[in-house]
Amino acid sequence: MPVLPRARGPVSAAVLDVLAGHAAAGDLAGALPDLAGVDPLGDDLQLALYACYELHYRSFDGLDERADDLEWDPDLLALRARLEAPFLDAVRALVDGGDDVEAAVEALLVEPTEGSGPSWHLAGDGERWQLDEYVALRSLYHLKEADPQAWVIPRLDGVAGRAKASLMTVEHDEYGAGRPERVHARIYAEMMEGLGLDTTYGAYLDVAPAPVLATVNIMSLFGLHRRWRGASVGQFALIEITSPPGAARLVSAIERLGLPERVTEFYAEHVEADAVHEQLVRKDLLAGLLEREPELAADVVLGLQASTVLEDRLADYLVRCWSAGASSLVAVPERSAA
Ligand SMILES: [Fe+2]
Ligand SMILES: [Fe+2]
Repeated sequence: MPVLPRARGPVSAAVLDVLAGHAAAGDLAGALPDLAGVDPLGDDLQLALYACYELHYRSFDGLDERADDLEWDPDLLALRARLEAPFLDAVRALVDGGDDVEAAVEALLVEPTEGSGPSWHLAGDGERWQLDEYVALRSLYHLKEADPQAWVIPRLDGVAGRAKASLMTVEHDEYGAGRPERVHARIYAEMMEGLGLDTTYGAYLDVAPAPVLATVNIMSLFGLHRRWRGASVGQFALIEITSPPGAARLVSAIERLGLPERVTEFYAEHVEADAVHEQLVRKDLLAGLLEREPELAADVVLGLQASTVLEDRLADYLVRCWSAGASSLVAVPERSAA
């Protein structure tokens, strides 16, 4: 379990004080600043939200028996709702929206011949420390890969079946298809080990900047609310549809840097597996969901586009840091970074 991160402002400080047992959740409302003045995509709010969501996954070290109560603490949940609203508003303001799922998917399939994201950068002339940072930061999701999307399973109709069966087929692969050594989170941890990174769950939370936190938070937000099941499915589809070309570039980056073959395993797996998953997601998951619940089309588009814009913001941030020769990690003097 990860240790509690450091606060990055008054909102995250208030939440982390409750998690650390220094304050009661009932006092949260009074301890918070006016959220109107807090950047909904900034470090403070994103870390506070991340900490709230983590209570539903693996939780944090040192919370012990309090973790069970905190997960369903009404004051903490009320605060989480107050943080989710401006986050969602900010994301909605960034996306085009609409309810044409087919058009939104088609837009994702257009790969630029000369892109500028981190996988392009790393495949081109990225340096080893940049690959380490990328893998360290992405571990926030990949060490719980497919978990945020698993929340949506009971929200899909099992009798109509088509969407649910295809989602489960993909999730089954993500979780190793019955082979623990093939669980994607584990293959990711092995890659981290090969790079000399810390494979402890949540080890890089403290150094993860807001754009990283936002990409994971949006998955948790959509996954944890039944109301957002369409968006969760859209978000899931986005990952499966867009991952192969980026994964292929990361394989060549790792090869170019002369790292052992086992380090390429995770991304190589995603070139192959996600090509199959893309078909399943388009033909059965999206089509099956919309056949059963056509009114969710706009939410599916929101899920596809929300993750796209947040991934784009992260890509810009990483490449901007690296191009300036700067680290993309949040500076935390007392704890070691990647
Ligand atoms: Fe995967
Ligand atoms: Fe996949």
